[in-house]
Amino acid sequence: MFQVVTKLLSRSSFASLSRGISLSFRQYCKKTPIKLQVSDALSGAKVGENVRVQGWVRSVRPQKTNVFLHVNDGSSLQSLQVVAGPKLNDPLLTFGCAVDVIGTLKKSLHQKQPVELEAAQITVVGECNPVDFPFKIKERHSVEYIRQIPHLRCRTNAFSSLLRIRSEATTAIHSYFKNNGFVQIHTPVITSNDCEGAGELFQVEPSGTENVDDGNFFSVPAFLTVSGQLHLEVMSGAFSRVYTFGPTFRAENSQSRRHLAEFFMVEAEISFIQSLEDLTKVMEDMFRSATEHVLAHCVEDVDLFHKHVTPGHRDTVDAMLSKSFPVITYSEAIDILNRSTEKFTFPTDWGCDLMTEHEKYLVKHCDNIPVFVTDYPYDLKPFYARDNQDHPKHTAAAVDLLVPGVGELCGGSLREERLNLLRARLEEAGLGDTYSWYLDLRRFGSVPHGGFGLGFERYLQCILGVDNIKDVIPFPRFSHSCLL
Ligand code: 4AD
Repeated sequence: MFQVVTKLLSRSSFASLSRGISLSFRQYCKKTPIKLQVSDALSGAKVGENVRVQGWVRSVRPQKTNVFLHVNDGSSLQSLQVVAGPKLNDPLLTFGCAVDVIGTLKKSLHQKQPVELEAAQITVVGECNPVDFPFKIKERHSVEYIRQIPHLRCRTNAFSSLLRIRSEATTAIHSYFKNNGFVQIHTPVITSNDCEGAGELFQVEPSGTENVDDGNFFSVPAFLTVSGQLHLEVMSGAFSRVYTFGPTFRAENSQSRRHLAEFFMVEAEISFIQSLEDLTKVMEDMFRSATEHVLAHCVEDVDLFHKHVTPGHRDTVDAMLSKSFPVITYSEAIDILNRSTEKFTFPTDWGCDLMTEHEKYLVKHCDNIPVFVTDYPYDLKPFYARDNQDHPKHTAAAVDLLVPGVGELCGGSLREERLNLLRARLEEAGLGDTYSWYLDLRRFGSVPHGGFGLGFERYLQCILGVDNIKDVIPFPRFSHSCLL
């Protein structure tokens, strides 16, 4: 079908086909407007051409003779200025309405916009009553206000910038892994294991019992995944570098600014690694590569955040990228916290978990750049973490990456690859039978390996300086809230 269409429009065959219509190929092209996205129109490459642009009106400015519109279609932060003569002035052309514009692209006399579209025809595709529309022209709405309107917030400049950055950061992360020899694995959303063992699981069951004999669809309890790690570890028995990037679920009863019930996690697993340094190198490289990509490819969108939403944050980002990330052990971190004059709410004794307040302090202590904390108490880490076998301060080869403004961004570890040690830990936890398949991975061709997970929303918070995690995800889910 595609080939036929191409052939019909090809230059050589067009003359004979159009004979009956008495239209030359050149005339045909001139008459049929070229459909352009706003970003392509703004590039200036099609100046002088007859074009068609479709989008939503972001501003309307009636003047004596003409009406000036700004039309945006999500392809860029900038809108395209459309100049409509008096005949095209229509009361339905309001802020927020959807339009289809045909006209000629012209060089603009104004420095701020390289081109404008001189309209020959404007169709209002979807009307929008500006009185009822919750966003008002020329008003700067607070993030708190915008957050309350999840079905319309993509129509604001700030949130559409965020969504473009999110999309570009996703591309950057996939590119990093592709360029570094990783194979992407689609790990399951529904699983029968609790990787982190923290009991923060959402159980999955059919909503009705009609199609299930005993009301138990999977015959075992099934949950939404809290991490794809164990499935990546399965693949690590055949692929030396794998990763996954998908939604992850935690039933944490938290209203905090850095927790969601559904978030996206980037997870990597690498076989044949010997030390945490092999892991921290990948974490740091990925962070740098993704951030440099986003800064280079989303200049205007990132600027909007760094200038208007979180002024001054660009300096923090530049500082993060200018130095290599320091590494401290958990024991050193505890010493730093205990030496500080800061009053912490939570205890800082050896063996206690680091809380957000501690993590933020440690980042500040390290010149406000990301810092790796390694070798946590063994008892704080899940069953899969590799035993450092150091006594009496018994630690595991685990690492967290703490970043400015957020605290923990990544969590990772070397995995216990030694069958006897892993079996003993699982049996101690009463999980020997549940994880017999996991023990098999150590029985057949086991190799030293390790991996990490990065919270994608926290990553966006970190590079943009956004305070609340609900402002960096299209549809936030958290306790007592599942809108739309
Ligand atoms: O530290 P976590 O729990 O590590 C794991 O799940 C490992 N199994 C990953 C691995 O080794 N493959 O989670 C990893 C990251 C955290 O550092 C944090 O950034 C993010 O996931 N995260 C959350 N982000 C938003 N909301 C939540 N409720 C989050 N819980 C964890």
